Amino acid sequence: MTFKTLACAAFVAGLLVPVAASAGGAPPAFTRCEGCHRTEAGKNAAGPSLFGVVGRKVGTEPGFRYSPAMAAAGGVWDPARLAKFLAAPKDAVPGTRMGFPGLKNPEDVKAVVDYLQTLK
Ligand code: HEC
Repeated sequence: MTFKTLACAAFVAGLLVPVAASAGGAPPAFTRCEGCHRTEAGKNAAGPSLFGVVGRKVGTEPGFRYSPAMAAAGGVWDPARLAKFLAAPKDAVPGTRMGFPGLKNPEDVKAVVDYLQTLK
């Protein structure tokens, strides 16, 4: 293999990575959630499992001890509500125990919410 072929192969591989990520993989911003959340069904960690969170009633993952604020918040997680919560958790649910300041970049919010919708 010549150097030119190698360089070309590396270039193509570099192009393929973002395509793969947009086809269902976790976006880069989601690495900020993974310290506390799992995406497998029923696996709670410092935070509740995010599997099936879109369409789930707020604060109802079995086996997870929510803050009184989250347990009492009511309603269902839909994409709009998730976007608000992830941009500023403590404004959206005052008293939440989620120790995360929020995603400041709206593109990150959108990418993470899109990804959460695939976890089902
Ligand atoms: C430092 C740990 C931590 C980080 C980082 C974190 N979370 Fe959380 N998350 C929690 C905890 C704890 C709760 C439960 C909060 C409560 O009970 O008030 C929670 C709750 C949630 C809920 C509500 C789930 C439900 O069952 O009602 C969602 C959605 C969520 N987190 C998404 C995310 C996303 C997406 C990220 C990354 C952008 C993230 N979290 C980052 C700890 C974390």
